[in-house]
Amino acid sequence: MHNNSSNNNNNNINIKQGRTFNILIGCTGSVASLKIPKLVEELLASKYKVCVKIVTTKHAQHFFDKNVLPVEIFCDEDEWTTWKSVEDPILHIELRRWADILVIAPLDANTLGKIACGLCDNLLTCIVRAWQPDKPLLFAPAMNTMMWNHPITANQVQALKSFGYKEIPCIEKVLACRDKGLGAMAETATIVKKVEEHLEKMSSNHYYYFY
Ligand SMILES: Cc1cc2nc3c(=O)[nH]c(=O)nc-3n(C[C@H](O)[C@H](O)[C@H](O)COP(=O)(O)O)c2cc1C
Repeated sequence: MHNNSSNNNNNNINIKQGRTFNILIGCTGSVASLKIPKLVEELLASKYKVCVKIVTTKHAQHFFDKNVLPVEIFCDEDEWTTWKSVEDPILHIELRRWADILVIAPLDANTLGKIACGLCDNLLTCIVRAWQPDKPLLFAPAMNTMMWNHPITANQVQALKSFGYKEIPCIEKVLACRDKGLGAMAETATIVKKVEEHLEKMSSNHYYYFY
């Protein structure tokens, strides 16, 4: 297991009131995964009581040091090392049950395409495929401008929206590859704000249903 579970309970040592929300971040092989530490820090500083866990694809792990993040991190290997026999929990189902909200940030072109088609060949896409439709799923696309402008992108984003998932739109800027245009992941502050909007709804509704 690639995790820092000893630190995990520190998330909630604060004076925040109300229930704890379990936030699962899914991150993929976009250069915007460089911002995962910042996103985690800002979510933990939210006015809501939150517990954060991360699910990462293999390629996302190139962009941040999982050993310094103060939250539990799961990768594809964990799915198989934690399951030995039929009594064992199945990680992608357990994480789906645990999470109140899933935020895929960044969502790269590859995983966007896979989710749009219903593919589930890793831990993150299995969680998405098994996602409970009455829980919010937010996604923040991030890709090169030419990838973003490819006609298939709009179709795939539309497919995700048709499943009830909420887009956090990408923004225009000079990208890491030095192309300028749309495709950069939304600012982390924007992502946190969107998450908080959903936590607010969940706080005020005893039952949280289709959003
Ligand atoms: C340095 C680097 C940066 C990348 N940035 C992006 C990106 O921002 N968006 C994207 O869609 N793909 C990006 N890619 C390509 C993805 O990493 C590649 O499609 C990979 O297969 C994605 O796998 P995953 O979706 O399982 O994480 C990048 C690749 C490299 C080497």
